Amino acid sequence: MSKNNVYIETYGCQMNFADTELVMGILKNKGYEITKEIEDANVILLNTCSVRDNAEQRIHGRLGNIKKYKDDNPETVIGILGCMAERLRSDLIENKKMVDLVVGPDEYRRLPEFIDGAFGGEKGIGVKLSRTETYEDIAPYREDKLAAWISVMRGCDKFCTYCIVPYTRGRERSRSLDSIAGEVRHLAERNFREVTLLGQNVNSYEDNGKDFADLLEACALAAPAMRIRFTTSHPQDLSDKLLETIARYDNICNYIHLPVQSGSNRVLEAMNRTYTREHYLNIIDKARKLIPGISFSTDIIAGFPSETYEDHLMTLDIMRKVRYDGAFMFKYSPREGTKAYNMKDDVPEDEKLKRLNEIIDLQQTISYEINQELIGKQETVLVEGFSKKSDKFFSGRTDTNKVAVFEAKEGISIGDYVKITITKATSATLFGKIEE
Ligand code: SAH
Ligand code: SF4
Ligand code: F3S
Repeated sequence: MSKNNVYIETYGCQMNFADTELVMGILKNKGYEITKEIEDANVILLNTCSVRDNAEQRIHGRLGNIKKYKDDNPETVIGILGCMAERLRSDLIENKKMVDLVVGPDEYRRLPEFIDGAFGGEKGIGVKLSRTETYEDIAPYREDKLAAWISVMRGCDKFCTYCIVPYTRGRERSRSLDSIAGEVRHLAERNFREVTLLGQNVNSYEDNGKDFADLLEACALAAPAMRIRFTTSHPQDLSDKLLETIARYDNICNYIHLPVQSGSNRVLEAMNRTYTREHYLNIIDKARKLIPGISFSTDIIAGFPSETYEDHLMTLDIMRKVRYDGAFMFKYSPREGTKAYNMKDDVPEDEKLKRLNEIIDLQQTISYEINQELIGKQETVLVEGFSKKSDKFFSGRTDTNKVAVFEAKEGISIGDYVKITITKATSATLFGKIEE
């Protein structure tokens, strides 16, 4: 076995997946090989997430599994990267004897140094957060695929009271517009067909007076044949200019992920979300006027401290008013170090679950209804591969990020954009037919 085979597993949000590509880029530059087989690796890295307790429990479980590779070969280096590394720091090394290195999101440049040290038997900890690090000059290691992602900003300054991210990712900072547009152009040359611009709060992107709308426009122009997506938008910072930019360019997707978290103004304030339901609904109205056919998805938290059943009903109500195409729905999970951690976690577990289930049921009904209304309509779909069930069928996604399955046709291949007519739909999938 060569000495330098790295295996890396990724948890959490898309930004963590983008970071894994950066980490692979950094390691490849130093002569490490990347392997997909954990058995072949002598360096095993987990890029972790801390957003909810169950995310961390999963990693603890996985570490238990991985221990056997270290038992079989004590030379194996095991490292924790990402948000859990940043949150738990030296505790991880002290409590888990098998862990050799702990490296947070802003210290990945030092990873090769830490790995070398670990081969020499040293434990390594790099958890300093930076106000400037954007890894702008580092080429991520990407396989040839159709879709890529680029982190355009790092960190978050919003400090929603429930959220650990500002503590694990540090302060907001943006990568330069020119370097991002250049990377998008390069992806187009490599035949990528879609790019997603990432940030915890992309709407506060800023580079020398240029804002996120300017960045989106620059990317849309840099790669006219590529679809441009972005996530996540914070409702407080979503500007009219951004909506106008989405409306102006065909290749910017008509789809916004706009986490609402709660429909109750009282709870929104306790969460420090800095907007009201009225402000939020006003954005949705404006967007629908400016961009016909635009769709929205959201994040919702059930059972935040002090949430009453009436507050919960307000959440169901805003879901009915907006009619989201999709939603990520969570039970509140207290995170040590956040403001909400000091509030009484007073919604009992079974009540949280009941509210969460009501939210999930309502969303499923709405998604189903919205998709039924699409029957007979045309959608442009990027052909991403064959359907799971049969290679007589293609699968792909619409502009509004819905999965569509349709019969394969001669002359059409993976990576093409095709127009389909929707013939059937469930709450999760559209079925269609390629236009003649
Ligand atoms: N800026 C990103 C946040 C990433 S975290 C965004 O706004 O999408 C993704 C989602 O996880 C948040 O929107 C929130 O709904 C949820 N979340 C964050 N902290 C949580 C907690 N302590 N308990 C439950 N859900 C949480
Ligand atoms: Fe967390 Fe709020 Fe920042 Fe999103 S905007 S990462 S929910 S603090
Ligand atoms: Fe998780 Fe960190 Fe992303 S906590 S959601 S991996 S920013």
